[in-house]
Amino acid sequence: MKTIIVNLLICFIPVLLCNCSPDTVIQNNEPPPYDIASAVRGGIMFDRFWSIEAGFNQSDTNIALFNSRPDFFKCNHCHGWDNLGRFGSYIGRGPNSERPNVAGLNLYSISLTKSPQDLFNSLKTADNRRNIRFDFSVYIPQDPNDSAHKMPNYGEILTEAQLWDLVKFLKEGTMNVAELYNASYSGIYPTGTAVFFNIGKDGNSANGINYYLTKCSLCHGPQGTEILVEGLTIGNFTRTRPYEVQHKVKYGKTGSNMTGNDDISLSQMKDLYKVLSDSSAFPN
Ligand code: HEC
Ligand code: HEC
Repeated sequence: MKTIIVNLLICFIPVLLCNCSPDTVIQNNEPPPYDIASAVRGGIMFDRFWSIEAGFNQSDTNIALFNSRPDFFKCNHCHGWDNLGRFGSYIGRGPNSERPNVAGLNLYSISLTKSPQDLFNSLKTADNRRNIRFDFSVYIPQDPNDSAHKMPNYGEILTEAQLWDLVKFLKEGTMNVAELYNASYSGIYPTGTAVFFNIGKDGNSANGINYYLTKCSLCHGPQGTEILVEGLTIGNFTRTRPYEVQHKVKYGKTGSNMTGNDDISLSQMKDLYKVLSDSSAFPN
């Protein structure tokens, strides 16, 4: 009898110490959602989360609303292509009836310091967020407390997997624009001014032209003078909007045949910027 009790104890002690059932062990083997998220999909979503390229359900009934008021829904409008919000390239981009305020926070540095879970929670929460079906007819652009300026309640329309894709982009897919160009910001939002210089910094133009000829010239021509956007050549666009080009080159332009080069490194981007800064090789 004694040996049976001892044997029973020996069998059960490890279970008691471990205090976990086999079920929990199996669950823990699933990769955390952050690990299987896609920074590339997140990058495309940062531009236009409801696009075909971002994999959004095209029969969602809110699409007409998003298209009618894109700047109230696009991450890049409120946070900037540089993720610097009011402290970056959008320092002079005030609100009007077609667009809300630019956010007063540096999302680039916040994203590097906060944990994936914290960023996810900010995207998932309904607190201090604007309902997706907000009534814009009562929007007063000049009122800083108008709810139209608030971040949309993305938890209402995006799946958790999509929110994790955004988090992964914020943590791993953004570029530090300070490595690509210098900027001088003067004044304060919404009447400040941004001036860009030293585009491409110490990048290598020979590598840059190789990259351009391989990846871009087929569509934009050897000197960037084909497919003008708002009348700007590729050189001119890069010199006036360097904050935006890096995102388009890496993630593509939704709604066009320009796909992204999601494997481009920071130093390759710098090389490309360097050559595009040259107005004799890439004229206005
Ligand atoms: C209409 C403007 C607007 C849009 C669009 C918007 N945001 Fe925001 N966002 C804000 C404002 C304002 C804040 C600061 C208030 C807050 O944190 O609640 C903020 C805060 C955040 C934060 C929290 C930062 C922190 O302090 O933890 C994250 C993350 C974020 N935004 C990501 C995104 C992403 C990703 C998108 C696109 C899917 C997006 N935002 C779209 C206005 C916007
Ligand atoms: C398959 C063709 C194609 C390739 C390859 C391509 N582009 Fe584009 N690009 C386009 C089209 C089309 C547009 C204009 C879309 C529009 O009119 O809205 C565009 C737009 C742009 C813009 C303007 C951004 C904007 O928001 O409209 C820039 C800058 C640009 N391309 C740079 C590049 C660079 C640099 C490369 C190489 C890394 C490249 N493109 C490769 C087709 C291409």
